[in-house]
Amino acid sequence: PLAATGELVLAATEARTAVAAFNIITLEHVEAVIAGAESVAAPVVLQVSENAVKFRYGRLLPLARAVTAAAERASVPVALHLDHVQSDDLLRQAPGAGFSSVMYDAARLPYEENLAATRAAADWAHAQGLWIEAELGEIGGKKGSAEPPLDAHAPGARTDPAEARAFVADSGVDALAVAIGSSHAMTTRTATLDHDLLKRLTAALDVPLVLHGSSGVPDDQLAAAVAGGIAKVNVGTALNIAMTGAIREFLAAHPEAVDSRKYLSVGREAMAQTVARLIGVLRP
Ligand code: G3H
Ligand code: ZN
Repeated sequence: PLAATGELVLAATEARTAVAAFNIITLEHVEAVIAGAESVAAPVVLQVSENAVKFRYGRLLPLARAVTAAAERASVPVALHLDHVQSDDLLRQAPGAGFSSVMYDAARLPYEENLAATRAAADWAHAQGLWIEAELGEIGGKKGSAEPPLDAHAPGARTDPAEARAFVADSGVDALAVAIGSSHAMTTRTATLDHDLLKRLTAALDVPLVLHGSSGVPDDQLAAAVAGGIAKVNVGTALNIAMTGAIREFLAAHPEAVDSRKYLSVGREAMAQTVARLIGVLRP
């Protein structure tokens, strides 16, 4: 059934696990994420990023409707989240499209501007009944972010616990994405998380913490991050690695193939397996 992100994150926090949130781009992503979550009987968040909306000719409804229709038939709770929103116009479309939550991304701005923009977004979101996540410190590597990408290991890129505490109190957000060493769009799992910083963030904050750029984080570090208080784990690139790798292999072995269902089904199955495997890492 269709669920609300805030409820899934709360349940994960209480169970000392994390809910997995997968970025979806195509209908095959939607089907694979739900099939993967069903295979391990786990709730899941499907998230649509502003960049994915741009890819879909700027339209939010095609993916949102696909998720809500599939969620209603799913055997596990499925929530719909709007991810990395920078555009206020897009933010305002969220409730009408069936989203229960948004991640408002003003982390590129200086602190005071990030706070003012996030507080305005949080006030509006709460009036609409939406759960809202924001980011402090910059998790580098996002498409369209600072060029050259911010080094995730640079001290300035990390979230400061005292600043984060003030930011959450002053903005009123429901969850915070923290920069603790992960970076977006990594194609190798070589990130090193700062578990000591995570411990200090968990102690300083009473809202759920979100890990972005999780594709680049090895299994043992993901598990440690969940044990350390991360309640929502965002994964995007790992699905694309699985899908593209499987399709590349299939097409190399079947150069005569033309029916798109032949290779899309292989890509979809590879994504579903990745989803099931990663959820297993988050639920000890
Ligand atoms: O918000 C989305 C995530 O942070 C995904 O990051 O593509 O590096 O896994 P990733
Ligand atoms: Zn992200």
